[in-house]
Amino acid sequence: MRSGSSEQPIGVFDSGVGGLSVLREIRRELPAEDLIYVADSGYAPYGDRPEGYVRDRAVAIMEFLRSKDTKAVVVACNTATGIAVDALRARYDVPIVAIEPAVKPAVARSRSRIVGVLATTQTLAGQKFAKLVSTHAGDVEVLTQAAPGLVDQVEAGQLDAASTRSLVERYLRPMLEKGADTIVLGCTHYPFLEDLIREVAGPDVAVIDSAAPVARELRRRLQAAGLLAPDDRRGSETFWTTGSDDRVRGVIAQLWTGDVEVREV
Ligand code: DGL
Repeated sequence: MRSGSSEQPIGVFDSGVGGLSVLREIRRELPAEDLIYVADSGYAPYGDRPEGYVRDRAVAIMEFLRSKDTKAVVVACNTATGIAVDALRARYDVPIVAIEPAVKPAVARSRSRIVGVLATTQTLAGQKFAKLVSTHAGDVEVLTQAAPGLVDQVEAGQLDAASTRSLVERYLRPMLEKGADTIVLGCTHYPFLEDLIREVAGPDVAVIDSAAPVARELRRRLQAAGLLAPDDRRGSETFWTTGSDDRVRGVIAQLWTGDVEVREV
């Protein structure tokens, strides 16, 4: 990828629609930027797939984003970060900002000294996550819970279905019963279930994610590289999917709250 100019777009991708929780923070932080979002919904979820599968998908999407002349890329997927970001950084000469579970801020705010992390199987199994915990946990006990099925519920737009609630209850209960007072949403799909998660967790439990810090880090990186778009313009969003565009359009419109055009990759 050639090094960019400030008017080029920023690419953002996820296994599906979850990365929209990051995209909305980027839009808030950087209103002048043109954003290209890729939902790899035809290949989602990533969370229980072999590493090679996720790495190949990340490379395929980077190639697509390169064809769109992006000046920076945001990996808006914790699973893809854990498995593929090192390979992407080695291969592509473009600023790549990636997301990881908010373990550090959770440790900083926990009073019970017990923190729960909800994420995909692959994120929790990865070396990057182990390192994150060993670097930041200190005296805090970090409980983890893989949550198969939750991503599918968000991909289907089932944000408050009874089946979604029972999954959330099943996954949260054990961590809450052990005394977790802070729950980390370690998958970008889960912020769309935040109301449900807060309801199940109760008012004394904090629920945090990493979307806003990622947007701020993106701003820092663009600024440092002299690539921030001039702020006298209004940025656009373009949505792409590898899934069936009709199905994905409905869910993106629901989560992005607006009429959207979604194109097939
Ligand atoms: N949204 C993704 C993440 O942050 C991936 C979920 C999945 O596809 O399983 O981990």
